Amino acid sequence: MPLARSLSITSLSGLEEWDEEFDLEDAVLFEIAWEVANKVGGIYTVIQTKARLTAEEWGENYFLVGPYVESNVRTQVELIEPTNPALKRAIDKMNSSGCKVYFGRWLIEGSPYVVLIDVAFTAWNLDKWKKELWDNFSIGVPWFDREANDAVLFGFLTAWLLGEYAAQCEEPPHILAHFHEWLAGLGLALCRQRQLPVATIFTTHATLLGRYLCAGSVDFYNNLADVSVSVCLYIITPNGLNVKKFSAMHEFQNLHAQSKNRIQEFIRGHFYGHLDFNLDKCLFLFIAGRYEFSNKGADIFLEALARLNYLLRVNHSDVTVVAFFIMPARTNNFNVETLKGQAVRKQLWDTAQTVKERFGKKLYESLLVGQLPDVSKMLSKDDFTMMKRAIFATQRQCQPPICTHNMLEDSNDPILTCIRRIGLFNSSADRVKVIFHPEFLSSTSPLLPMDYEEFVRGCHLGVFPSYYEPWGYTPAECTVMGIPSISTNLSGFGCFMEEHIADPSAYGIYILDRRYRGVDESCNQLTSYLFQFCQQSRRARIIQRNRTERLSDLLDWRYLGRYYISARHMALAKAFPDTYFYQPHDSDTAQGFRYPRPASVPPSPSLSRHSSPRQSEAEEDDDRYDEDAEAEKDRLNIRQPLTLPSKKGPALPYTLPGANGEK
Ligand code: UDP
Ligand code: G6P
Ligand code: GLC
Repeated sequence: MPLARSLSITSLSGLEEWDEEFDLEDAVLFEIAWEVANKVGGIYTVIQTKARLTAEEWGENYFLVGPYVESNVRTQVELIEPTNPALKRAIDKMNSSGCKVYFGRWLIEGSPYVVLIDVAFTAWNLDKWKKELWDNFSIGVPWFDREANDAVLFGFLTAWLLGEYAAQCEEPPHILAHFHEWLAGLGLALCRQRQLPVATIFTTHATLLGRYLCAGSVDFYNNLADVSVSVCLYIITPNGLNVKKFSAMHEFQNLHAQSKNRIQEFIRGHFYGHLDFNLDKCLFLFIAGRYEFSNKGADIFLEALARLNYLLRVNHSDVTVVAFFIMPARTNNFNVETLKGQAVRKQLWDTAQTVKERFGKKLYESLLVGQLPDVSKMLSKDDFTMMKRAIFATQRQCQPPICTHNMLEDSNDPILTCIRRIGLFNSSADRVKVIFHPEFLSSTSPLLPMDYEEFVRGCHLGVFPSYYEPWGYTPAECTVMGIPSISTNLSGFGCFMEEHIADPSAYGIYILDRRYRGVDESCNQLTSYLFQFCQQSRRARIIQRNRTERLSDLLDWRYLGRYYISARHMALAKAFPDTYFYQPHDSDTAQGFRYPRPASVPPSPSLSRHSSPRQSEAEEDDDRYDEDAEAEKDRLNIRQPLTLPSKKGPALPYTLPGANGEK
């Protein structure tokens, strides 16, 4: 029996409601990506966060397809029998023909079904499939390129799965196959070549070509006009997130304070023996992501930190900045000095606890017999010896380490090489300290036991001055957690925010100009953002975090999911015109939605510093409730309608009509 499904996306604080009346009939959606239940970078975040909304729309007919990786399956997937009879027959058939295909539920929000393919198990086919690729598409694949080999295997296996599924259906099926990124792209080419009855979509998240050209010496953006590309029907699909709403409005501020305490504990250990700065006046900045030194902007961040260090020193600032670099590189474990730091801190804590207990016991005994204690006898000789020994352990001959791990390529690592050149060595005189953690964060780490989300919450500012960044999840994630960030007008996120917010920096969204300025000028702009940020009072930071968090709705899949929905409906209508009809958009509906400037307070942090009479630090924390009133004013202020697709269809650019929903 055909299923009639349609989706209504509800209104989010002023953003227009959107109803999509599109009967999906009996269509089945396969969404295929190398990062299904397999974390590599931002594509995993797209798939994982979008699953809930897609599952709501497609229900039992939604299947994610990815690679089988045992360690991932053990922690993220519940293997079960296939629920759909035709799919069960298709999987059984493949498994009896020398493949290993698994079916399960991915244990994330929305609990979507996953089909996981063990590509290594079918590696015996590699040469045959490479030859087929060469014969049919003139695509040659290098012999020892693991990534390319995996892409070949994954592509052929997914095309096999789709073909087998179509063959097992009793009625002619309406299959929609959505492929993400080149690692899954071969499957799409094979569907077309084999003329499978499949509507197709391809989402590109970044091009390899773009990555390599940008990382090299090509002036990419000024030569874009000379690049020849042929693009068919396309929609730009901004990346969303699942926004968590707390019942108490300021819960995210409390979470910031809790996570910050944990980062401070780590700092106490890391800088043992050199804790000559005030932790309460210490700001935590960070950059995180795949280790592409210049594409991710780690180069200009380091340069700007060196300039910031100088500015803070000459201005005798009492602020200390700790800048974290979280970028995975090749290592062989944590280094001894870093682990020792945490051990020394723990020892000091234990010593303090032991002495406190003994002290407490004596105090108690004295009170029991009705006497005030003799303070000179409260600590014994042993107590003093133990405390002295603990203090001696904090002596150290070297500076606190820059890198937390033993790097395999220490001497030519780009971050370390740059640090050596600019001389940011965590010395006592430096107001800017640097910590390079060349591994993604994990709550099971013996060094910094926090997951990435907790860590971000505890920081003050995310810095992502990317040169090549089609979207960039990291600043978006900061935004929904209420943490200000710096991105650029060369990143999808930066451009999107620039388009939708009248004064982004007032909301803690700093957008660096890397498009129209030279590197040195961009670096100066970055330095000035950082310096302004360091001059804010605590109260200004709290207010700014409230404003940042208020933008969350703009990044919610409940709002941004509509672009994907439109793309799917267009592809179905294109491939199966007798069954589906899609009304193309009316360009007249495109209207600019913009968050207005915040109602009450000056636009930029440097100005907001002393906008009200100077307050004590304690009073500074109490101003959050004024902010609620300000938030309400802002909401009332939002009068313009949303830019995004109305019932008539998507308003973002796409060309009509073209090929099959593909790029
Ligand atoms: N990330 C993570 N752990 C870390 C650092 C980063 O899980 O310790 C994630 C982060 O949450 C984000 C992704 O890595 O979702 C990076 O995505 P982005 O789009 O910024 O860049 P990409 O790596 O895809 O180029
Ligand atoms: C949150 C907490 C406050 C705390 C503040 C610290 O707002 O609710 O109690 O004082 O964070 O802010 P800071 O920017 O100094 O880390
Ligand atoms: C790619 C891009 C990144 C984007 C991610 C998810 O990895 O480099 O900018 O956020 O895909 O779309």
